[in-house]
Amino acid sequence: MDKFVIRGGNPLVGTIRVSGAKNSALPCMAAAILTEETVTLENIPSVRDIATERKLLAAMGAEVELGTGTSDHRTTICCRTLSDPVAKYEIVKTMRASSLVLGPLIARTGMARVAMPGGCAIGGRPIDLHIKGLEKMGATIAQEHGYLEARAERLRGAHLVFDKITVTGTEDLLMAAVLADGETVMENCAREPEVTDLAALLTAMGAKIEGAGTSTIHVQGVTSLHGAQYLINPDRIEAGTFLIAGAITGGDLTVTDCNPDHIRAVLSKLEETGAKIDIVGPDAVRVRSDGKHRAADISTEEYPGFPTDMQAQYMALATQSEGVSLIKENIFENRFMHVQELVRMGANIKVDGRTATVRGPAKLSAAAVMCSDLRASASLVLAALVADGESILDRVYHMDRGYERIEEKLRSAGAEIQRMGNVFPARDGEAAAD
Ligand code: EPZ
Repeated sequence: MDKFVIRGGNPLVGTIRVSGAKNSALPCMAAAILTEETVTLENIPSVRDIATERKLLAAMGAEVELGTGTSDHRTTICCRTLSDPVAKYEIVKTMRASSLVLGPLIARTGMARVAMPGGCAIGGRPIDLHIKGLEKMGATIAQEHGYLEARAERLRGAHLVFDKITVTGTEDLLMAAVLADGETVMENCAREPEVTDLAALLTAMGAKIEGAGTSTIHVQGVTSLHGAQYLINPDRIEAGTFLIAGAITGGDLTVTDCNPDHIRAVLSKLEETGAKIDIVGPDAVRVRSDGKHRAADISTEEYPGFPTDMQAQYMALATQSEGVSLIKENIFENRFMHVQELVRMGANIKVDGRTATVRGPAKLSAAAVMCSDLRASASLVLAALVADGESILDRVYHMDRGYERIEEKLRSAGAEIQRMGNVFPARDGEAAAD
Protein backbone atom coordinates (compact mmCIF):
# COMPACT_ATOMS: atom_id res chain seq x y z
CA MET A 1 0.00 0.00 0.00
CA ASP A 2 1.39 3.37 -1.01
CA LYS A 3 2.08 5.98 1.61
CA PHE A 4 2.92 9.68 1.53
CA VAL A 5 5.67 11.15 3.70
CA ILE A 6 5.09 14.87 4.22
CA ARG A 7 7.26 17.30 6.17
CA GLY A 8 5.24 20.39 7.10
CA GLY A 9 6.25 24.03 7.24
CA ASN A 10 6.92 25.10 3.64
CA PRO A 11 4.75 27.84 2.13
CA LEU A 12 3.60 26.81 -1.36
CA VAL A 13 4.91 29.21 -3.98
CA GLY A 14 4.63 29.03 -7.74
CA THR A 15 2.14 27.49 -10.16
CA ILE A 16 0.14 24.26 -10.20
CA ARG A 17 -1.82 23.05 -13.24
CA VAL A 18 -5.22 21.42 -12.74
CA SER A 19 -6.15 18.20 -14.57
CA GLY A 20 -9.46 17.36 -16.22
CA ALA A 21 -12.49 16.70 -14.00
CA LYS A 22 -12.85 13.05 -12.93
CA ASN A 23 -16.56 13.64 -12.28
CA SER A 24 -17.06 14.92 -15.82
CA ALA A 25 -14.95 12.21 -17.44
CA LEU A 26 -16.86 9.35 -15.79
CA PRO A 27 -20.34 10.21 -17.16
CA CYS A 28 -18.83 11.25 -20.51
CA MET A 29 -17.12 7.86 -20.84
CA ALA A 30 -20.43 6.15 -20.04
CA ALA A 31 -22.09 8.25 -22.76
CA ALA A 32 -20.00 6.39 -25.37
CA ILE A 33 -22.34 3.42 -24.77
CA LEU A 34 -25.08 5.40 -26.53
CA THR A 35 -23.51 5.16 -30.00
CA GLU A 36 -21.89 2.56 -32.27
CA GLU A 37 -19.37 5.16 -33.33
CA THR A 38 -16.15 6.26 -31.64
CA VAL A 39 -16.14 8.85 -28.86
CA THR A 40 -12.81 10.54 -28.09
CA LEU A 41 -12.41 12.52 -24.87
CA GLU A 42 -9.48 14.88 -24.26
CA ASN A 43 -8.13 16.28 -20.97
CA ILE A 44 -9.00 13.07 -19.14
CA PRO A 45 -7.27 12.91 -15.72
CA SER A 46 -4.85 10.03 -15.24
CA VAL A 47 -6.47 8.70 -12.06
CA ARG A 48 -7.63 5.30 -10.85
CA ASP A 49 -11.34 5.86 -11.34
CA ILE A 50 -10.72 6.42 -15.05
CA ALA A 51 -8.74 3.17 -15.24
CA THR A 52 -11.63 1.46 -13.44
CA GLU A 53 -14.21 2.80 -15.87
CA ARG A 54 -12.08 1.70 -18.84
CA LYS A 55 -12.03 -1.82 -17.37
CA LEU A 56 -15.79 -1.68 -16.83
CA LEU A 57 -16.46 -0.70 -20.46
CA ALA A 58 -13.95 -3.20 -21.85
CA ALA A 59 -15.60 -5.99 -19.83
CA MET A 60 -18.86 -5.16 -21.61
CA GLY A 61 -17.22 -5.56 -25.00
CA ALA A 62 -16.26 -1.97 -25.74
CA GLU A 63 -13.00 -1.20 -27.54
CA VAL A 64 -11.08 1.03 -25.15
CA GLU A 65 -7.43 1.43 -24.33
CA LEU A 66 -6.57 -0.06 -20.96
CA GLY A 67 -4.04 0.57 -18.23
CA THR A 68 -2.04 3.70 -17.78
CA GLY A 69 0.50 3.13 -20.53
CA THR A 70 -1.90 4.86 -22.89
CA SER A 71 -1.72 8.52 -23.82
CA ASP A 72 -2.95 9.33 -20.35
CA HIS A 73 -5.04 12.37 -21.01
CA ARG A 74 -7.14 11.02 -23.84
CA THR A 75 -9.50 8.09 -24.07
CA THR A 76 -11.06 6.69 -27.24
CA ILE A 77 -14.06 4.43 -26.74
CA CYS A 78 -16.05 2.45 -29.32
CA CYS A 79 -19.10 0.54 -28.12
CA ARG A 80 -20.04 -0.91 -31.52
CA THR A 81 -20.44 -4.30 -29.91
CA LEU A 82 -21.60 -4.63 -26.33
CA SER A 83 -21.36 -8.38 -25.99
CA ASP A 84 -21.90 -8.43 -22.24
CA PRO A 85 -23.92 -5.43 -20.96
CA VAL A 86 -23.14 -6.20 -17.32
CA ALA A 87 -21.47 -4.00 -14.69
CA LYS A 88 -19.91 -6.66 -12.49
CA TYR A 89 -19.81 -6.30 -8.71
CA GLU A 90 -16.00 -6.80 -8.61
CA ILE A 91 -15.66 -3.50 -10.47
CA VAL A 92 -18.71 -1.64 -9.14
CA LYS A 93 -17.65 -2.20 -5.51
CA THR A 94 -14.48 -0.17 -6.16
CA MET A 95 -16.31 2.71 -7.81
CA ARG A 96 -19.97 3.47 -7.19
CA ALA A 97 -20.05 5.84 -10.16
CA SER A 98 -20.24 2.63 -12.21
CA SER A 99 -24.01 3.02 -11.80
CA LEU A 100 -23.72 5.70 -14.49
CA VAL A 101 -23.80 2.94 -17.12
CA LEU A 102 -27.34 1.95 -16.12
CA GLY A 103 -29.25 4.57 -18.12
CA PRO A 104 -27.11 4.42 -21.27
CA LEU A 105 -27.15 0.59 -21.34
CA ILE A 106 -30.95 0.44 -21.19
CA ALA A 107 -31.26 3.24 -23.74
CA ARG A 108 -28.86 1.58 -26.22
CA THR A 109 -29.50 -2.16 -25.74
CA GLY A 110 -32.87 -2.37 -23.98
CA MET A 111 -31.30 -4.20 -21.07
CA ALA A 112 -28.75 -3.80 -18.29
CA ARG A 113 -27.38 -5.88 -15.45
CA VAL A 114 -25.66 -3.59 -12.97
CA ALA A 115 -24.39 -4.52 -9.52
CA MET A 116 -25.92 -2.42 -6.79
CA PRO A 117 -23.12 -0.05 -5.69
CA GLY A 118 -23.68 -0.52 -1.98
CA GLY A 119 -22.58 2.05 0.52
CA CYS A 120 -19.17 3.61 0.92
CA ALA A 121 -17.12 5.52 3.46
CA ILE A 122 -19.20 8.70 3.22
CA GLY A 123 -22.71 7.29 3.24
CA GLY A 124 -25.33 4.85 2.05
CA ARG A 125 -25.22 6.25 -1.49
CA PRO A 126 -28.56 4.78 -2.69
CA ILE A 127 -29.59 4.95 -6.35
CA ASP A 128 -33.35 4.75 -5.74
CA LEU A 129 -33.92 8.01 -7.64
CA HIS A 130 -32.11 6.63 -10.71
CA ILE A 131 -34.37 3.55 -10.59
CA LYS A 132 -37.55 5.58 -10.00
CA GLY A 133 -36.85 7.76 -13.04
CA LEU A 134 -36.04 4.82 -15.32
CA GLU A 135 -39.22 3.00 -14.25
CA LYS A 136 -41.23 6.13 -15.04
CA MET A 137 -39.66 6.00 -18.53
CA GLY A 138 -40.95 2.45 -18.97
CA ALA A 139 -38.09 0.29 -17.74
CA THR A 140 -38.85 -2.78 -15.63
CA ILE A 141 -36.17 -3.15 -12.98
CA ALA A 142 -35.81 -6.14 -10.67
CA GLN A 143 -33.29 -6.37 -7.85
CA GLU A 144 -31.81 -9.79 -7.09
CA HIS A 145 -28.53 -11.24 -5.86
CA GLY A 146 -27.18 -7.71 -5.43
CA TYR A 147 -27.81 -6.82 -9.06
CA LEU A 148 -30.30 -4.60 -10.88
CA GLU A 149 -31.84 -6.41 -13.88
CA ALA A 150 -33.33 -3.73 -16.12
CA ARG A 151 -35.26 -4.14 -19.37
CA ALA A 152 -37.15 -1.83 -21.75
CA GLU A 153 -38.30 -2.26 -25.35
CA ARG A 154 -37.63 1.44 -25.87
CA LEU A 155 -37.69 4.02 -23.09
CA ARG A 156 -40.41 6.63 -23.50
CA GLY A 157 -40.17 10.31 -22.64
CA ALA A 158 -41.63 11.27 -19.25
CA HIS A 159 -42.01 14.18 -16.84
CA LEU A 160 -39.55 13.49 -14.02
CA VAL A 161 -39.23 15.43 -10.79
CA PHE A 162 -36.30 14.41 -8.59
CA ASP A 163 -37.25 14.01 -4.91
CA LYS A 164 -33.68 15.07 -4.06
CA ILE A 165 -31.04 16.78 -6.13
CA THR A 166 -28.70 14.04 -7.37
CA VAL A 167 -25.71 14.64 -9.64
CA THR A 168 -25.26 11.16 -11.11
CA GLY A 169 -29.03 10.65 -10.98
CA THR A 170 -29.45 13.67 -13.26
CA GLU A 171 -26.63 12.39 -15.52
CA ASP A 172 -27.92 8.79 -15.65
CA LEU A 173 -31.44 9.85 -16.61
CA LEU A 174 -30.21 12.47 -19.05
CA MET A 175 -28.36 9.69 -20.89
CA ALA A 176 -31.50 7.54 -20.79
CA ALA A 177 -33.67 10.36 -22.16
CA VAL A 178 -31.58 11.27 -25.22
CA LEU A 179 -32.62 8.03 -27.02
CA ALA A 180 -36.12 7.76 -25.52
CA ASP A 181 -39.28 8.00 -27.62
CA GLY A 182 -40.62 11.55 -27.24
CA GLU A 183 -39.88 14.44 -24.89
CA THR A 184 -38.54 14.15 -21.35
CA VAL A 185 -38.78 17.01 -18.88
CA MET A 186 -36.56 16.66 -15.80
CA GLU A 187 -37.16 18.97 -12.82
CA ASN A 188 -35.13 19.58 -9.66
CA CYS A 189 -31.99 18.58 -11.58
CA ALA A 190 -28.43 18.97 -10.35
CA ARG A 191 -26.79 22.11 -11.77
CA GLU A 192 -23.16 21.00 -11.30
CA PRO A 193 -20.74 21.86 -14.14
CA GLU A 194 -20.24 18.12 -14.65
CA VAL A 195 -23.89 17.87 -15.76
CA THR A 196 -23.34 20.71 -18.23
CA ASP A 197 -20.17 19.01 -19.48
CA LEU A 198 -22.06 15.76 -20.14
CA ALA A 199 -24.90 17.62 -21.90
CA ALA A 200 -22.36 19.36 -24.14
CA LEU A 201 -20.87 16.01 -25.18
CA LEU A 202 -24.32 14.48 -25.78
CA THR A 203 -25.28 17.51 -27.90
CA ALA A 204 -22.06 17.05 -29.92
CA MET A 205 -23.22 13.44 -30.46
CA GLY A 206 -26.54 14.67 -31.87
CA ALA A 207 -28.77 14.80 -28.79
CA LYS A 208 -31.39 17.51 -28.39
CA ILE A 209 -31.06 19.00 -24.89
CA GLU A 210 -32.07 22.35 -23.42
CA GLY A 211 -31.55 23.70 -19.91
CA ALA A 212 -28.50 21.70 -18.74
CA GLY A 213 -26.97 23.54 -15.79
CA THR A 214 -30.38 24.73 -14.62
CA SER A 215 -32.93 22.92 -12.45
CA THR A 216 -35.14 22.02 -15.46
CA ILE A 217 -33.83 20.09 -18.46
CA HIS A 218 -35.82 19.36 -21.63
CA VAL A 219 -34.78 16.47 -23.89
CA GLN A 220 -36.23 15.56 -27.30
CA GLY A 221 -35.41 11.87 -27.83
CA VAL A 222 -33.70 10.89 -31.10
CA THR A 223 -33.33 7.45 -32.67
CA SER A 224 -29.53 7.33 -32.70
CA LEU A 225 -26.41 9.28 -31.79
CA HIS A 226 -23.09 9.55 -33.63
CA GLY A 227 -19.52 9.71 -32.37
CA ALA A 228 -17.81 12.91 -31.25
CA GLN A 229 -14.61 14.41 -29.89
CA TYR A 230 -14.88 16.42 -26.70
CA LEU A 231 -12.61 18.33 -24.30
CA ILE A 232 -13.40 17.66 -20.63
CA ASN A 233 -13.73 20.61 -18.20
CA PRO A 234 -11.02 21.29 -15.60
CA ASP A 235 -11.50 19.69 -12.17
CA ARG A 236 -13.03 22.35 -9.91
CA ILE A 237 -12.46 20.30 -6.75
CA GLU A 238 -8.78 19.78 -7.53
CA ALA A 239 -8.50 23.54 -8.16
CA GLY A 240 -10.18 24.31 -4.82
CA THR A 241 -7.94 21.81 -3.02
CA PHE A 242 -4.76 23.47 -4.30
CA LEU A 243 -6.06 26.96 -3.50
CA ILE A 244 -6.60 25.87 0.10
CA ALA A 245 -3.08 24.38 0.06
CA GLY A 246 -1.73 27.81 -0.91
CA ALA A 247 -3.80 29.51 1.81
CA ILE A 248 -3.10 27.09 4.67
CA THR A 249 0.69 27.16 4.08
CA GLY A 250 0.81 30.98 3.92
CA GLY A 251 2.03 30.83 0.35
CA ASP A 252 1.64 32.57 -2.99
CA LEU A 253 0.23 30.01 -5.39
CA THR A 254 -1.30 30.33 -8.85
CA VAL A 255 -3.63 27.53 -9.95
CA THR A 256 -3.88 27.34 -13.75
CA ASP A 257 -6.03 25.50 -16.30
CA CYS A 258 -9.01 25.93 -13.99
CA ASN A 259 -12.37 27.66 -14.43
CA PRO A 260 -12.83 30.40 -11.78
CA ASP A 261 -16.57 30.52 -12.51
CA HIS A 262 -16.94 26.96 -11.22
CA ILE A 263 -15.44 27.72 -7.78
CA ARG A 264 -17.03 31.06 -6.84
CA ALA A 265 -18.33 29.73 -3.47
CA VAL A 266 -14.86 28.48 -2.52
CA LEU A 267 -13.14 31.69 -3.64
CA SER A 268 -15.49 33.88 -1.65
CA LYS A 269 -15.10 31.71 1.46
CA LEU A 270 -11.30 31.89 1.19
CA GLU A 271 -11.52 35.69 0.95
CA GLU A 272 -13.79 35.68 4.04
CA THR A 273 -11.01 33.93 6.00
CA GLY A 274 -8.55 36.62 4.93
CA ALA A 275 -6.77 34.99 1.98
CA LYS A 276 -6.07 37.28 -0.97
CA ILE A 277 -7.65 35.92 -4.14
CA ASP A 278 -6.96 37.29 -7.64
CA ILE A 279 -8.37 36.03 -10.91
CA VAL A 280 -5.24 36.32 -13.05
CA GLY A 281 -6.67 35.17 -16.36
CA PRO A 282 -9.64 33.26 -17.86
CA ASP A 283 -8.25 30.03 -16.43
CA ALA A 284 -6.02 31.03 -13.52
CA VAL A 285 -6.52 32.00 -9.88
CA ARG A 286 -3.82 33.29 -7.51
CA VAL A 287 -4.05 32.85 -3.74
CA ARG A 288 -1.81 34.73 -1.32
CA SER A 289 -1.83 34.39 2.46
CA ASP A 290 0.28 35.24 5.49
CA GLY A 291 -0.89 31.97 7.03
CA LYS A 292 -3.18 33.80 9.46
CA HIS A 293 -6.89 33.21 8.83
CA ARG A 294 -10.17 34.25 10.39
CA ALA A 295 -12.75 31.59 11.24
CA ALA A 296 -15.71 31.39 8.85
CA ASP A 297 -18.68 29.00 8.82
CA ILE A 298 -19.64 26.79 5.87
CA SER A 299 -22.74 24.80 5.03
CA THR A 300 -22.39 22.37 2.13
CA GLU A 301 -25.02 22.78 -0.57
CA GLU A 302 -25.65 21.62 -4.12
CA TYR A 303 -23.99 23.72 -6.83
CA PRO A 304 -23.50 26.67 -6.90
CA GLY A 305 -23.31 26.50 -3.08
CA PHE A 306 -20.21 25.43 -1.16
CA PRO A 307 -19.39 21.93 -2.48
CA THR A 308 -19.51 18.91 -0.17
CA ASP A 309 -16.39 17.69 -2.00
CA MET A 310 -14.52 20.68 -0.53
CA GLN A 311 -15.77 20.30 3.07
CA ALA A 312 -12.91 18.13 4.34
CA GLN A 313 -10.27 20.33 2.74
CA TYR A 314 -11.87 23.47 4.23
CA MET A 315 -11.91 21.86 7.66
CA ALA A 316 -8.11 21.54 7.54
CA LEU A 317 -7.91 25.30 6.94
CA ALA A 318 -10.45 25.95 9.71
CA THR A 319 -8.13 24.21 12.22
CA GLN A 320 -5.65 27.03 11.53
CA SER A 321 -8.21 29.87 11.53
CA GLU A 322 -8.57 32.25 14.50
CA GLY A 323 -11.92 31.61 16.22
CA VAL A 324 -14.74 29.10 15.88
CA SER A 325 -15.77 27.72 12.45
CA LEU A 326 -19.06 25.81 12.19
CA ILE A 327 -19.02 23.26 9.37
CA LYS A 328 -22.40 21.81 8.41
CA GLU A 329 -22.46 18.78 6.04
CA ASN A 330 -25.90 18.71 4.43
CA ILE A 331 -25.31 16.30 1.54
CA PHE A 332 -23.87 13.07 3.01
CA GLU A 333 -24.60 11.46 6.35
CA ASN A 334 -21.07 10.34 7.17
CA ARG A 335 -18.59 12.74 5.69
CA PHE A 336 -16.53 13.50 8.80
CA MET A 337 -14.13 10.55 8.55
CA HIS A 338 -11.22 13.02 8.45
CA VAL A 339 -12.12 14.55 11.85
CA GLN A 340 -10.56 11.90 14.07
CA GLU A 341 -7.34 11.90 12.07
CA LEU A 342 -7.14 15.72 12.23
CA VAL A 343 -7.75 15.53 16.01
CA ARG A 344 -4.87 13.07 16.29
CA MET A 345 -2.69 15.73 14.70
CA GLY A 346 -3.78 18.22 17.37
CA ALA A 347 -6.89 19.85 15.85
CA ASN A 348 -9.72 20.97 18.15
CA ILE A 349 -12.90 19.63 16.52
CA LYS A 350 -16.17 18.47 18.03
CA VAL A 351 -18.84 16.73 15.93
CA ASP A 352 -22.54 16.84 16.76
CA GLY A 353 -24.63 15.11 14.10
CA ARG A 354 -23.96 16.86 10.81
CA THR A 355 -22.16 19.85 12.34
CA ALA A 356 -18.48 20.02 13.21
CA THR A 357 -17.27 22.83 15.50
CA VAL A 358 -13.64 23.72 14.80
CA ARG A 359 -11.68 25.93 17.21
CA GLY A 360 -8.44 27.46 16.00
CA PRO A 361 -5.72 28.10 15.48
CA ALA A 362 -4.50 24.74 16.78
CA LYS A 363 -0.86 23.76 16.43
CA LEU A 364 -0.75 20.56 14.40
CA SER A 365 1.97 18.01 15.01
CA ALA A 366 2.99 15.43 12.47
CA ALA A 367 1.55 11.94 12.92
CA ALA A 368 0.95 8.64 11.17
CA VAL A 369 -2.60 8.90 9.82
CA MET A 370 -4.95 6.80 7.71
CA CYS A 371 -6.75 7.94 4.56
CA SER A 372 -10.37 6.78 4.43
CA ASP A 373 -11.95 8.32 1.34
CA LEU A 374 -10.98 10.56 -1.53
CA ARG A 375 -11.56 14.00 -0.03
CA ALA A 376 -10.73 13.08 3.58
CA SER A 377 -7.31 12.07 2.25
CA ALA A 378 -6.88 15.52 0.70
CA SER A 379 -7.72 17.08 4.07
CA LEU A 380 -4.94 15.08 5.74
CA VAL A 381 -2.43 16.16 3.09
CA LEU A 382 -3.34 19.81 3.73
CA ALA A 383 -2.96 19.36 7.49
CA ALA A 384 0.38 17.59 7.06
CA LEU A 385 1.65 20.52 4.94
CA VAL A 386 1.45 22.75 8.03
CA ALA A 387 2.04 20.18 10.81
CA ASP A 388 5.27 20.32 12.77
CA GLY A 389 7.43 17.39 11.64
CA GLU A 390 7.05 14.47 9.25
CA SER A 391 3.62 12.86 8.77
CA ILE A 392 3.02 9.44 7.23
CA LEU A 393 -0.26 9.07 5.34
CA ASP A 394 -1.30 5.47 4.72
CA ARG A 395 -3.69 4.10 2.05
CA VAL A 396 -3.12 6.94 -0.39
CA TYR A 397 -4.76 4.81 -3.08
CA HIS A 398 -7.86 6.73 -2.02
CA MET A 399 -6.18 9.88 -3.34
CA ASP A 400 -5.05 8.22 -6.54
CA ARG A 401 -8.71 7.69 -7.40
CA GLY A 402 -9.27 11.40 -8.01
CA TYR A 403 -6.01 13.35 -7.84
CA GLU A 404 -3.45 13.00 -10.63
CA ARG A 405 0.16 12.84 -9.35
CA ILE A 406 -0.73 15.14 -6.45
CA GLU A 407 2.66 14.66 -4.79
CA GLU A 408 4.48 15.84 -7.92
CA LYS A 409 2.21 18.86 -8.28
CA LEU A 410 2.65 19.88 -4.63
CA ARG A 411 6.43 19.24 -4.74
CA SER A 412 6.70 21.54 -7.77
CA ALA A 413 5.40 24.38 -5.53
CA GLY A 414 7.81 23.66 -2.69
CA ALA A 415 6.08 21.01 -0.58
CA GLU A 416 8.25 18.32 1.00
CA ILE A 417 6.21 15.25 -0.01
CA GLN A 418 7.35 11.84 -1.18
CA ARG A 419 5.43 8.71 -2.20
CA MET A 420 6.65 5.46 -0.66
CA GLY A 421 5.83 1.93 -1.84
CA ASN A 422 4.52 0.75 -5.19
CA VAL A 423 3.82 3.31 -7.85
CA PHE A 424 0.33 3.79 -9.29
CA PRO A 425 -1.38 2.15 -11.27
CA ALA A 426 -3.90 0.59 -9.10
CA ARG A 427 -4.08 -2.88 -7.76
CA ASP A 428 -7.54 -4.45 -7.89
CA GLY A 429 -9.97 -4.65 -5.04
CA GLU A 430 -8.30 -2.14 -2.76
CA ALA A 431 -10.57 0.81 -2.37
CA ALA A 432 -14.04 1.24 -1.01
CA ALA A 433 -16.18 3.16 -3.46
CA ASP A 434 -16.71 6.90 -3.07
C1 EPZ B 1 -21.63 12.92 -7.11
O1 EPZ B 1 -21.97 11.76 -6.39
C2 EPZ B 1 -20.10 12.98 -7.09
N1 EPZ B 1 -19.56 11.79 -7.75
C3 EPZ B 1 -19.61 13.06 -5.66
O2 EPZ B 1 -18.20 13.21 -5.69
C4 EPZ B 1 -20.23 14.29 -5.00
O3 EPZ B 1 -19.84 14.32 -3.64
C5 EPZ B 1 -21.75 14.22 -5.10
O4 EPZ B 1 -22.15 14.09 -6.48
C6 EPZ B 1 -22.42 15.47 -4.54
O5 EPZ B 1 -21.96 16.60 -5.22
C7 EPZ B 1 -19.54 11.74 -9.10
O6 EPZ B 1 -19.99 12.66 -9.78
C8 EPZ B 1 -18.96 10.51 -9.72
P1 EPZ B 1 -25.67 12.58 -5.34
P2 EPZ B 1 -23.50 11.23 -6.44
O7 EPZ B 1 -26.48 11.57 -6.07
O8 EPZ B 1 -24.11 11.59 -7.72
C9 EPZ B 1 -28.78 11.10 -2.11
C10 EPZ B 1 -15.99 12.80 -5.11
O9 EPZ B 1 -15.45 13.07 -4.04
N2 EPZ B 1 -29.31 10.23 -3.16
O10 EPZ B 1 -25.68 13.98 -5.85
O11 EPZ B 1 -23.47 9.81 -6.04
C11 EPZ B 1 -27.35 10.72 -1.70
O12 EPZ B 1 -27.37 9.70 -0.74
C12 EPZ B 1 -17.38 12.19 -5.11
O13 EPZ B 1 -15.52 13.04 -6.25
C13 EPZ B 1 -30.43 9.45 -2.90
O14 EPZ B 1 -30.98 9.48 -1.80
O15 EPZ B 1 -24.16 12.08 -5.28
C14 EPZ B 1 -26.82 12.03 -1.16
O16 EPZ B 1 -27.24 12.17 0.18
C15 EPZ B 1 -17.81 11.76 -3.73
N3 EPZ B 1 -30.92 8.64 -3.88
C16 EPZ B 1 -27.52 13.08 -2.02
O17 EPZ B 1 -28.65 12.42 -2.62
C17 EPZ B 1 -30.35 8.58 -5.12
O18 EPZ B 1 -30.86 7.83 -6.00
C18 EPZ B 1 -26.64 13.63 -3.14
O19 EPZ B 1 -26.06 12.53 -3.80
C19 EPZ B 1 -29.21 9.37 -5.38
C20 EPZ B 1 -28.71 10.19 -4.39
